[in-house]
Amino acid sequence: MSTKPAILFVCLGNICRSPLAEGALRAATIRAGIEVEIDSAGTGDWHVGNPPDPRAIATARDNGIDISGLRGRQVSPRNFTRFTHIFALDEDNLRNLYAMAPDDATAELALLLDVVPGFEGRAVADPYYGSDEGFAQTWRDVSAAADALVARFS
Ligand code: 4NP
Repeated sequence: MSTKPAILFVCLGNICRSPLAEGALRAATIRAGIEVEIDSAGTGDWHVGNPPDPRAIATARDNGIDISGLRGRQVSPRNFTRFTHIFALDEDNLRNLYAMAPDDATAELALLLDVVPGFEGRAVADPYYGSDEGFAQTWRDVSAAADALVARFS
């Protein structure tokens, strides 16, 4: 029996990169007509309850996707059994996820760009303190990952 994939994207604040990854995969799965559960969270708690950064909302909107309704939340221990896959946007967050994983964790943990051929081991760079071009680069990275995930789960 195969389980329906349930994918959690994790960055630091859950207001820039992981909401964009969530939006990109949601759109890609709808286009492909496949059913995947998708969520995002942060390892930090500074932005719990907040909408995505306005620059992330604008970047998604430029690509036809509305992420303005998302709200920041922090990763919880239960997430490690609730999701089949947890993808960290960079190594720091992956390390933090391994450190907080409970003993009964069942989710597969990986770096997001490991799913994109030729980009294994790379981080989706944090655009928070950067320019709008940083958000455009984030979008390219998470879109490539979303396409690879759709191919994997189709
Ligand atoms: P994210 O970006 O991890 O891609 O959501 C950040 C958002 C907020 C902060 C850092 C990164 N912060 O330090 O508040």
